[in-house]
Amino acid sequence: MEKKNFYLTTPIYYPNSNLHLGHTYTTIVADVLKKYKETQGFNVFFTTGTDEHGQKLQDSAIKAGKKPLEYIDPIVESAKELWKTLDIDFDAFVRSTDKTHEKNVMEIFTKLYEKGEIYKGSYKGMYCVPCEAFWTESQLVEGNKCPDCGREVVPSEEETYFFRLSKYQDRLLKLYEENPDFIQPESRKNEMISFIKEGLTDLSVTRSSFDWGVKVPFDEKHVVYVWIDALSCYLTGIGYGTDEEKFNKFWPCDVHLVGKEIMRFHAIIWPAILMALDLPLPKKIFGHGWILFDEDKMSKSKGNIVYAEPIIERYGMDALRYFMLREFTFGQDGNFTYSKMLNRINSDLVNDLGNLVSRSVAMCEKYFEGLVPAQTELTELDNDLIEMATSTRDRVSDLIDKLNFSMALEEIWKFVRRTNKYIDETTPWALIKEQKVDRLKTVIYNLLESIRIISGLIKPFMSETSSKINEQIGYCEFSYEDLTKFGLIKEGTKVCKGKNLFDRLDVEKELEIIVQKNAELIEFRKKKNSGEKEKEEVVEERETITIDDFAKVELKVGKILECEPHPKADRLLVFKIDLGNEVRTIVSGIRKFYSETDLIGKKVIVVTNLKPVNLRGVESNGMILAASDDKDLSVLTVLSDMKEGTKVS
Ligand code: ME8
Ligand code: MG
Repeated sequence: MEKKNFYLTTPIYYPNSNLHLGHTYTTIVADVLKKYKETQGFNVFFTTGTDEHGQKLQDSAIKAGKKPLEYIDPIVESAKELWKTLDIDFDAFVRSTDKTHEKNVMEIFTKLYEKGEIYKGSYKGMYCVPCEAFWTESQLVEGNKCPDCGREVVPSEEETYFFRLSKYQDRLLKLYEENPDFIQPESRKNEMISFIKEGLTDLSVTRSSFDWGVKVPFDEKHVVYVWIDALSCYLTGIGYGTDEEKFNKFWPCDVHLVGKEIMRFHAIIWPAILMALDLPLPKKIFGHGWILFDEDKMSKSKGNIVYAEPIIERYGMDALRYFMLREFTFGQDGNFTYSKMLNRINSDLVNDLGNLVSRSVAMCEKYFEGLVPAQTELTELDNDLIEMATSTRDRVSDLIDKLNFSMALEEIWKFVRRTNKYIDETTPWALIKEQKVDRLKTVIYNLLESIRIISGLIKPFMSETSSKINEQIGYCEFSYEDLTKFGLIKEGTKVCKGKNLFDRLDVEKELEIIVQKNAELIEFRKKKNSGEKEKEEVVEERETITIDDFAKVELKVGKILECEPHPKADRLLVFKIDLGNEVRTIVSGIRKFYSETDLIGKKVIVVTNLKPVNLRGVESNGMILAASDDKDLSVLTVLSDMKEGTKVS
C-alpha cells in the first residue's frame, strides 16, 4: 500500500535574537506531531526556517556595523543548533534569503501581477521623513506628530503595489463555513470572521523605503513585502519551482502551526494569495497561545526570558518536551514557572513513570532472575488492565489529531497510574510470601507488557526515554499496530534494570540553581552581543594610525621657485621647490587645475621623506599635498607666512 503523505509547517523565525522557550513551543509541538504521524505510517514532511528580510533586520545589521547576511548567518546557525539540541527533526529549513526561494518569490509576484491580482497604485498618508514611516491619522500624537519620534509628519504619497485582498472577502468566509476545521481553535476562527466582516482592503505588498528584500523583478526600486516572501517559504520547502513531484506529493499542507499573533497572515492573507495563484488551500491553520512568564509575554527588553538550554542541560530534553506539551493547552496562553516544571517532573516523571518502570523491572529481576515469566490464567483485574492497555492508543490518536497534546498525555498517564495501581492491587510481595508463583508470573508479565505499550505511546513525545525503557524490558521492536495488542513480549526475555529514568528533584534547591543558570546565560548572551560590538570597534581602530605612525611622515613648508610642463605627460607639472636647506624637483599631476605660472612663489606643504620615483623620465623627490574631490583640486598652504623648511606636524 502506498504511504499517505502529511505536510506540516512551523513559522519561519525572525533571526533577531537567541530563541527563547516561547519560540521552542511551536517546533516541539510540530516535532511531536511529525513523529506521531510517522508512527501511524504517514510519510511526513516538516518545514521550518528563518525569515531574514525586512527593514527591522536591515536596521539591526546596520546597528551592529555588519552587512545583513554577516549579521544574520550566526543567528541562523544558533537556531539550527537549538533545534538539534531539542531533537527537532525538520525536513526542510528554508532561509528566505536562499536563492531558490528568492526566485520563487519573484515568480509568484510576477504571476500575480500578470493575472491582474496585483496592481500598481499609491499609498497616501501622513509620513514621518526621519523614520521613513507612514502613519494613519489615528496613530498620530497631538494631531500631527510621529508616534515613534515625536517629530512633525507631512502628507505624502508613495508608489506601491497592491494585492486585491478585498476581492476575496466572500470566498474566505465561504471557505471557513464549508471547512469548519480550517481555523483552529474555534475562538480564533471567530476573530478572523469578525475581522473580515469589518471589510478587507487591498494589501500593500511592496516597499520602496528600504532594499533588504526580494526585488520586484519588473520594478527594482520595490522589494516584496516580507509576509508575502515569508509565507511562500511553505511552498519552497517542498520543492515549489524546483521539484514538481515532491511539491504535488505534499501540497496542500495538512497543518500550518502558528502563534496566535500571526493568525491573520495565515488564515486570511495566505489563503487569498493561494486562491489568486490557483493553488489548493491548506487543510488547517492552528493558532496556538503564548507561553507567558510571570503572566507577561517573554521579551528581551523586559528581561524575563527563559531559555531552553539550561533546562535541557539539567533535566534533559524529554522532561522539557513532556512539560511543555502536558502543562499548556495548545491553543491557550499558559504561564510558565520553574516550580510548576520541577513539580511535574517529580510527580509525573519520577513518581508515576519512573517508579513504575523501576519497580516492575526490579521485581522481575528479584523473583524471576530477570527473565520474563509466562502469563497464565487471567482474572477480572487483569482484564481490566488489559482493556485499558489496548484501548489507550486510539484515544490518544484521536486527541493528537485534534492537536490536543495535553489531553493526549493525560490519557497516557491515566494508564501509567492505572498500572501503578495494579501493583498495589495485586501486591506481588505478598504473592511471593504466599508462594502464589503462577499468579505472580501473570502479574509481572502484565506489568512488563503494559510498560511496553506505554513506551510506544510516549515515543513521539520522549523518544530517549522510550528507548531507555525498551532497553530495560528487553523489547526493541516498535510498531503502531502493536500498541493495541497485549501479549507480545516473549517468555524468557531478559530484562535489565538500568539507571533511574528521572532523578527526584529537591524543588527548593533546584529552583535556585535553574534560575541562576538561566540568568547566567542571559548575561553571557548579552555580553557576547555587546562583545561583538567591542570587537568591531577594535577593528575600526586598526584602520586608524597612532601618533607614531603619523610622525613617520615628514612634512615641510616649501616655496615654489619654478614650474614647467612635463615634456612627455600632459597631466604633469614639474616643480622646483625650496625647502630651506635644499631645492627639490617634484612632479605633480595637477596640470588640469593649475597653469605653469599659477603657483610660482606660493608656499605649499610637501611630503619630504617619500621614496623618489621616476615619472616618465623625470625623478620626483616628494609630494605636494592637495585637497581634491572628483571635480576640483586645491593645493594646501599655510594661513600666515612661514619660512621654507618649517616642519608641519
Ligand atoms: O512571527 N509563546 O516569527 P517570530 C509561544 N517570522 N509562542 C511564541 C512565543 C511565546 N512566548 N514567542 C514567539 C514570526 N512564539 C514570522 C513568521 S511565517 C511565514 C513568518 C512563536 O520569530 C510565535 O507565535 O516572531 C511564532 O509562531 C513563532 O514563535 C515565530 O515567531
Ligand atoms: Mg513575533
